Amino acid sequence: HWSAEEKQLISSVWGKVNVEECGAEALARLLIVYPWTQRFFDNFGNLSSPTAIIGNPKVRAHGKKVLTSFGEAVKNLDNIKKCFAQLSKLHCDKLHVDPENFRLLGDILIIVLASHFGKDFTPACQAAWQKMVRVVAHALAHEYH
Ligand code: HEM
Repeated sequence: HWSAEEKQLISSVWGKVNVEECGAEALARLLIVYPWTQRFFDNFGNLSSPTAIIGNPKVRAHGKKVLTSFGEAVKNLDNIKKCFAQLSKLHCDKLHVDPENFRLLGDILIIVLASHFGKDFTPACQAAWQKMVRVVAHALAHEYH
């Protein structure tokens, strides 16, 4: 559960996020830093080098899709589990994504936000966002069996 301050920190950062840029950057970083995650995206074409990954239009488009979906959680802070029940089923039953990857992507998103917002991304902001990405990862793993 969220304090008024956490809610405020999360929505004030979110209001300034460029979903297209940050989504593309977060997914590209995931694929570069944890190369085994590339195996989920074998239909995305050329992922052979960091430059290829960063310039890959499918990576960009999917990064935007993922971060847009993350935004649904930001808008439904008190209802994240329910909000992501279907997506959890999809990632489990159909995509077979190991939930550990949700944690990795969440941590990378924090790095991306910190690099975009610099000193405005205060330690209190980071703490609220660490909680946010943990709750999202938990919700996405919830329907796994
Ligand atoms: C597809 C959200 C993390 C792998 C999707 C879709 C959404 C989504 C909205 C499209 C679903 C549809 O087409 O109906 C999220 C969110 C995540 C997350 C909110 C975490 C914050 C991950 C991670 C991986 C992953 C960490 C793997 C490392 C995939 C794959 C697809 C997919 C392979 C299908 C891509 C395609 O071929 O179109 N995800 N995802 N997701 N996701 Fe995730």
